[in-house]
Amino acid sequence: MSPIKVGLLGLGVVGGGTWKVLTRNAEEIARRAGRHIEVTAAAVRDLDKAKRLVGDSVMLTQDGFDVVRHPDIDIVVELIGGDTLARDLIMEAIAQGKHVVTANKALLAKHGNEIFAAAHAQGVMVTFEAAVAGGIPIIKAIREGLTANRIQWLAGIINGTTNFILSEMRSQGLPFDQVLAEAQRLGYAEADPTFDIEGVDAAHKLTLLASLAFGIPVQFDKAHIEGISQLAAEDIAHAERLGYRIKLLGITRRCDKGIELRVHPTLVPMSCLLANVEGAMNAVLVSGDVVGPTMYYGQGAGELPTASAVVADLIDVTRLESADPGHRVPHLAFQPDAMDDTPILPV
Ligand code: HSE
Repeated sequence: MSPIKVGLLGLGVVGGGTWKVLTRNAEEIARRAGRHIEVTAAAVRDLDKAKRLVGDSVMLTQDGFDVVRHPDIDIVVELIGGDTLARDLIMEAIAQGKHVVTANKALLAKHGNEIFAAAHAQGVMVTFEAAVAGGIPIIKAIREGLTANRIQWLAGIINGTTNFILSEMRSQGLPFDQVLAEAQRLGYAEADPTFDIEGVDAAHKLTLLASLAFGIPVQFDKAHIEGISQLAAEDIAHAERLGYRIKLLGITRRCDKGIELRVHPTLVPMSCLLANVEGAMNAVLVSGDVVGPTMYYGQGAGELPTASAVVADLIDVTRLESADPGHRVPHLAFQPDAMDDTPILPV
C-alpha cells in the first residue's frame, strides 16, 4: 500500500520529537500501521533549522495553509500551540477532509466542541492523545480500556512543570524561580508558563478528560482553577511535617447533582501513590464502577514522551483510514450528537 502522507504544523520540541520517532522506529511503525507514514510537508518558523533536521525530502514552508491545503496530505499534525492560528488551520484541514492529530489542549479546551462537531460532520478524525499527560495513554485508557464502565471519578497530576517545581522545592530546597527556569530549559513548561503555574494547563487537560469520562461537552469555562503561585516553601515543609505532600491535582467526579471539575493544590497523605509521584512525572487515577480504581503513570511532558503519543495517534488514524478510505470512520473521541447534559457544579 502507498504511504500515508502527513503534514506537520510546527517542528519545535514535540514536532522535532515526532520526526525523530517516525524516523527511528519507521519499520515497526509501518508494520503496526499497515503502511509507511511519510512526512510530506512541514510548516516551520525557521526554514534553515528545519532543513538541517529533515533534509530535502520534506516540503518546507512558513505558511501553515500550504500544508493543510496540500492535496497529497492525509493527516495534519498540529503542534504549533495557541488558539488562534492553530484553530484556523485545524478548521481548514477538516474542511479539506483531512484527519487531524493535535497536542493542543488549550485549543481543544476552548474550541473543542466546534472542532469535534466539524470533524464529525466531515467524517474525519481529530485525535489528541498527546494533549493530556504526555506519553501516558490516558485518552486511550478512558476511551477504549475502560469503555465498559461508568466512570465515577478521576484525579491526577497532569502538569509536569508544577509537579517538578513542587518536588524540587521540597527535596532540594531550591527556590521557585530557579526550578521554573529549569523546567523551561527542559522543554516541560508552556510558552506562557503562567498557564502551568496558575493551574490553567491542568484545567485544560482535566476538561478534556472529564468530557471523555462523562460524555459531556467541553466546558473549560466552568472549571474551578487554583495554581501553585501562592504556595511558599514553608507550606510545603509544614505539610511534610504533618505527613502530607502538596500536589496540584485535577479532580473530576460525578455526584448526584452534577459533575465536579476542579484544579487546586491538594494535601495528599504520603502513604498514597500520588504523593510519591515526583519530578515532571504525571499520574492519573481513574475509578470505574466495574473495574474499580486504576492508575496510569509516566512522563507527562518533554520531547519524546509527547512524540510517543503523537505517533500513536498517527498509527491509529492510519489503521482506521486504511480500513475505510472513504473517511466514514467512527469518530475516535466524541460523538457530538450524543452528549450528556449533566451540569458542572460550582465550587
Ligand atoms: N506544560 C505542560 C506540563 C507540558 O508541564 O505538563 C505537557 O502538557
